[in-house]
Amino acid sequence: MLNSKIVGLGHYVPERVVTNEELSGMMDTNNEWIIERTGIEQRRFIDPAKDTVANMAAKATHMALERANLEVSDIDFIVFATITPDYFFPGSGVLLQRELGLESIGALDIRNACSGFIYALSTADAFIKTGMYKTILVIGAEIQSTALDLTTRGRNTAVIFGDGAGAAILQASDHKGVLSTHLHSDGRFAEELYVKDPGSSRPHAERQPEQILDTSSFKVHMNGSMVFKHAVVRFSEVIMEALEKNNLTKDDIDLLIPHQANLRISQFIQKKFELADDKVYNNIMRYGNTTAGSIPIAMSEAFGEGKIKPNDLICLAAFGSGFTWASALIRWS
Ligand code: COA
Repeated sequence: MLNSKIVGLGHYVPERVVTNEELSGMMDTNNEWIIERTGIEQRRFIDPAKDTVANMAAKATHMALERANLEVSDIDFIVFATITPDYFFPGSGVLLQRELGLESIGALDIRNACSGFIYALSTADAFIKTGMYKTILVIGAEIQSTALDLTTRGRNTAVIFGDGAGAAILQASDHKGVLSTHLHSDGRFAEELYVKDPGSSRPHAERQPEQILDTSSFKVHMNGSMVFKHAVVRFSEVIMEALEKNNLTKDDIDLLIPHQANLRISQFIQKKFELADDKVYNNIMRYGNTTAGSIPIAMSEAFGEGKIKPNDLICLAAFGSGFTWASALIRWS
């Protein structure tokens, strides 16, 4: 059986920095509340005249290709994780394929929210292990800002989310890179963190936008405390599952890169696994929660800062809407 390894990482975040103070001018919130509950100090919002999910992903891709010393033409498949595609359909994978100038390679879209990047990585890893593709571009990218309710009504979600894109190039390899991936879901909690519209669950009359008087169903609905409670349990379980599968222990982890949902969740996991500060990478302070973008952005930054070294054991873990949760263990080479 073939193996897969990450040969390049890249990321792109929009230029516009939005501080907690700026949000406090739009809604009834404040810097102290946001930092205390989430750890977030600022996030990036797109310029709608310039940034799209696909072109942010393209910028992240070019960075990853350069670091990998590869050309766009080396990519033979795209797996694109996003819940905020540029269009309701088609997904952003084909838009990225077009943007990169790749003529007819396949593009697959993944909609597993905050777990989306690990689901995408797992899919790409499986494709490589079957020998179907050799070089797969794996993307996590989101534009959350333009859907946020930036009034006091939406403050429990508006302060959390941000925009950005991350890319990883996965290649067939003789060495074991991706050791294992673990994917889970529990749809009983689907409505605890979701956006209802434009969904097909409505009868015909209600699916006509001009009939929808209350547009709050187009915004993120989140039961914050329910998400928090499940996240801490599932993060722990899925990290343990990955370690046990590979006969490893928490002491073998060189760097844990948790999905950047909330700094408090990351700190809870760090404490539970008794990991030193330099063994957990967080950047939620600067970017907020970029959903599928968060893990590849963090991985790319950690790599750029020299925090991912050859032979390191990297653990990725995520939890989010669905509920879905996932982990991956990677031996860096
Ligand atoms: N600024 C100021 N006050 C706010 C606020 C904001 N941005 N958002 C909510 N509040 C208020 C609430 O209205 C509530 O007021 P009340 O007590 O007068 O009713 C109070 O703060 C507490 O709200 P609550 O929702 O219970 O706070 P919390 O301690 O659960 O923190 C979250 C809210 C969202 C920060 C927290 O639940 C959380 O982080 N959950 C996980 C979310 C997450 O990770 N989502 C991403 C999933 S991948």
